[in-house]
Amino acid sequence: MHAVVAEGGGGPEVLTLVERPVPTPGPGEILVKVAAAGINRPDVIQREGNYPPPPGAPDVLGLEIAGTVVARGPGAQRWAVGDAVMALVPGGGYAPYCLAHEDNTLPVPAGLSMIEAGAIPETYFTVWTNVFDRGRLAAGETLLVHGGSSGIGTTAIQLAKAFGARVIVTAGSAEKCDRCLALGADRAVNYREEDYVAAAKDFTDGRGVDLILDMVGGDYIPRNYEAAAVEGRIVQIAFLKSPKVEVDYRRLMMKRLTHTGSTLRPRSVAQKAEIAAALAREVIPLIGQGRCRPVIDSTYPLEQVREAHARMDSSAHVGKIVLTMA
Ligand SMILES: NC(=O)c1ccc[n+]([C@@H]2O[C@H](COP(=O)([O-])OP(=O)(O)OC[C@H]3O[C@@H](n4cnc5c(N)ncnc54)[C@H](OP(=O)(O)O)[C@@H]3O)[C@@H](O)[C@H]2O)c1
Repeated sequence: MHAVVAEGGGGPEVLTLVERPVPTPGPGEILVKVAAAGINRPDVIQREGNYPPPPGAPDVLGLEIAGTVVARGPGAQRWAVGDAVMALVPGGGYAPYCLAHEDNTLPVPAGLSMIEAGAIPETYFTVWTNVFDRGRLAAGETLLVHGGSSGIGTTAIQLAKAFGARVIVTAGSAEKCDRCLALGADRAVNYREEDYVAAAKDFTDGRGVDLILDMVGGDYIPRNYEAAAVEGRIVQIAFLKSPKVEVDYRRLMMKRLTHTGSTLRPRSVAQKAEIAAALAREVIPLIGQGRCRPVIDSTYPLEQVREAHARMDSSAHVGKIVLTMA
């Protein structure tokens, strides 16, 4: 089968189609005939050579897939051959066949296309574990999402609203802000024109926000401390600007803030299975009811993976870019 690897670190031109054998499922694994595979910013960071796959993960790119079960490994009983599934995978998604652990797999919700399903796992697992597990977002609280128009941001807006929170987002253009508002955000800040700290204070009558989901880092770190309410939480999921910054920590202490963070990919199958179980219980029904749905920016056939990555590099997209298999 054709599969996409990054040959050396760099721009989209390092993405190369290579020939690989169709993988054989091991214990607890299923083989999925992939219909669609979502592209995520971590794939870009891997392509650039700054995010090597964890030990044991395939070098083929791709962290999420949707498709049909075609084979089961020893002991795998959860899914039957022919089932439509979507899965969080440690790699290997940019290919017509991909292995998934049966416990890191969810059913394709009723009414969703394979393209939409392929755009769900990475962002939904990430938002659930960071906003609801680590961040403990509760109904009535205010969430500030940086990068509101990203795959992660568009998911966080919809899930937070579905669970009764108020949402304020930052995004880099008026058009992106409008898209976030249309998805349910209560307030959108074009960070190129407006100070988000002042906007967050104004939105909360001076109190500050309860939770911040931050992928930017850099000078946003001290500014987040300013924007947060007393007892506020800040969850770090990336450092698009910089992981290094000088911070005056007195504000963290005086406001009794909690600043935490996590990465999804290196976690164990069992830890990801716990997130999958929570999503099956709490979120899949909401998707079935149409209360949240992935935002699809664009789709590209696997062979046009370089064009797909160039679109993500441009940051012109809103929501998810998805690869489709012939
Ligand atoms: N920790 C985890 O487990 C985990 C899991 C998945 C993803 N992530 C991270 O979450 C972030 C979002 O992922 P995604 O797949 O949703 O990405 P995405 O759709 O490409 O969104 C990233 C957005 O961030 C904004 N941005 C702000 N500062 C930026 C900068 N310096 N460079 C580039 N973009 C910048 C851009 O929108 P504007 O026009 O508004 O600036 C861009 O659209 C990524 O950083 C990714 O690495 C973390």
